Amino acid sequence: MTSLYDTYGHRILFGGDYNPEQWPEEIWPDDIRLMAEAGVNSVTLGVFSWAALEPRPGAREFGWLDRLMDLMHDHRMSVVLATPTASPPPWMGARHPETLPRDENGQTVWYGSRQQFCASSPVYRRYAAALTEDLAARYAAHPALRMWHINNEYCTFCWCDETAGHFRRWLGARYGSLDALNEAWGTAFWSQRYDDWAEIIPPRRAQYMRNPGQMLDFRRFTSDALMECYLAERDIVSRHTPRVPVTTNFMPFWTGQDAWKWAEQEDVVSVDIYPDPADAWGAQYNAMIGDMTRSQARGPWMLMEQAAGPVNWRGVNHPKPRGLNRLWSLQSVAHGADAICYFQWRQSRQGAEKFHSAMLTHAGEQGRTYQEVKQLGAELGRLSEAVAGTDTPSDVAVLHDWESWWADQQDGRISTEVEYPDVVRAWHRALWEAGLTTDFAHPAHELGRYRLVVIPHLYLLTDAAIDNLVAYVRGGGTLVSGFHTGAADQDDRIRAGGMDVRLRELFGISTLQEWWPLDAGSTVECEGFRGTLWSEELEPGGAETVARYQEGELDGLPAVLRNGRAWYLSTLPEPGALRDLLARVAADAEARPVLTGLPAGVEAVRRGELLFLLHHGRQTVTVPVPGRHRDLLSGAAVEGSLELGRYGAAVLREDVR
Ligand code: GAL
Ligand code: ZN
Repeated sequence: MTSLYDTYGHRILFGGDYNPEQWPEEIWPDDIRLMAEAGVNSVTLGVFSWAALEPRPGAREFGWLDRLMDLMHDHRMSVVLATPTASPPPWMGARHPETLPRDENGQTVWYGSRQQFCASSPVYRRYAAALTEDLAARYAAHPALRMWHINNEYCTFCWCDETAGHFRRWLGARYGSLDALNEAWGTAFWSQRYDDWAEIIPPRRAQYMRNPGQMLDFRRFTSDALMECYLAERDIVSRHTPRVPVTTNFMPFWTGQDAWKWAEQEDVVSVDIYPDPADAWGAQYNAMIGDMTRSQARGPWMLMEQAAGPVNWRGVNHPKPRGLNRLWSLQSVAHGADAICYFQWRQSRQGAEKFHSAMLTHAGEQGRTYQEVKQLGAELGRLSEAVAGTDTPSDVAVLHDWESWWADQQDGRISTEVEYPDVVRAWHRALWEAGLTTDFAHPAHELGRYRLVVIPHLYLLTDAAIDNLVAYVRGGGTLVSGFHTGAADQDDRIRAGGMDVRLRELFGISTLQEWWPLDAGSTVECEGFRGTLWSEELEPGGAETVARYQEGELDGLPAVLRNGRAWYLSTLPEPGALRDLLARVAADAEARPVLTGLPAGVEAVRRGELLFLLHHGRQTVTVPVPGRHRDLLSGAAVEGSLELGRYGAAVLREDVR
């Protein structure tokens, strides 16, 4: 990734979305003062400013933004400048209703909120390009411009007629002929054969279950259609400023965008992370998204948005207890973030997000939130030099693929209890609890540098991915796979035998008789642990049985199989059991935890030369740390051990006096 080291010498960017158009200009100097005091060095401007910039079609109102850009520059704050194309003004929907999305029932999704655009609409695209062009031309040479932020969390779907035409063109390019499409979608079933391209529509509401091939392609198409919008704007800004990096902020682990594909088109990969403060595993979630984003970025990444306190889109919205915002921010840095930013700078007093926290809340300058933000800003300043640009190394990878997720989560599946993201999260949690830092990887990526690769659950695997996995194990790698993996090919066609033959050979399985999903909340007794969610009736063919099922229909049959360095888990072991099993396999594979002997709740992560210690609990603990270090946060010398209080953190550098 392009380094975030900016014009003003800031290495770790710290700041957030700044939406000053909500306020009278008299408030701006106060904003600037408070930002400066908090160590803010970066603001993201213009994310939702379309109506302010183009109040009526073709009009341009840049004066306010000129003043803001200058103000930022005067105070040595860099600007992440957004194209405002995520929220077209009402005039667009009113004059051009065809720019508004239609849902699966053909109903219009109206303006009055945000994201009301159809990615396939030429009218929307034309207006978006024109404004992007003028914005880029106007600020290309502005010294405060640090980065381009295209749109915001691309996340719309549309089933309109314009989309239908676009979908057909996309399918035409993918399949070349209708015969190939009919074959890929398996339209011989239920009399679904298409005789003319014009008959093809996006999968709209239908009488009963829709065609899975069509659904899968519609997911692929929608991700690509949104990416076309991104690329069009990216190309415009890059033409004006070839050296200014471009990003678009991802939603974390979100189903709509194939982020592996998208990330390749970004200079900086950024993401928005909102762990629930009331989630006992919120820290693990934060770690997981950090790991995923770092892997997409293949290096440092940008935390574009987080909340300093509560959000306002959960059922019950919990604030962050004292210290948690700091801890999770430092955790993101440990996992590779070179930018710690928020939605948003000043809490709104009107509009849909007036109960969503900000860096500066309704409680104001003396409020706890701002005071904590200020402390964090100072601390990040102290870390900046040593941290920015460095790697978070890992020799374990978790495989994840959007296409498999899409194919897996369709109507007509074996069990609606299997939620793909939850399974991935369970495996990441097991590795995280075992103290292993993990990357994520796509199943077709080069895996040779990892000692251990795990597959939580990849229902769909392409031939290329399967060959890649086989080659990885042949080359000396250790692979552990979860249930129901390698069942389908790229068209969601079930492979002969219910599991690809190359994988059956790899795992030493001769026959897969049946999938036996478990009911919600129920478990199955296995040797040494309990399985959840799923079980399989398997006959080994060469594999050693590591653990058997011990009750029910599968009593005595293998639950966990091992064939040399390839392991297969036909159920999802309960958390502690999965953790212990993966810890054992990792140790055999010589994938080592960062530190051993850590008290419960303490996470250790290495980044560059630094050792981050993060205490996710509330009781004071003593952490053994061999050697002599200095804590960059407190400045204190650390010899042999260290105390961490509630949500405490230390960033240690070896002391070589
Ligand atoms: C993000 C979005 C922000 C804000 C935030 C609230 O999804 O990009 O604009 O709405 O959520 O949590
Ligand atoms: Zn549409």
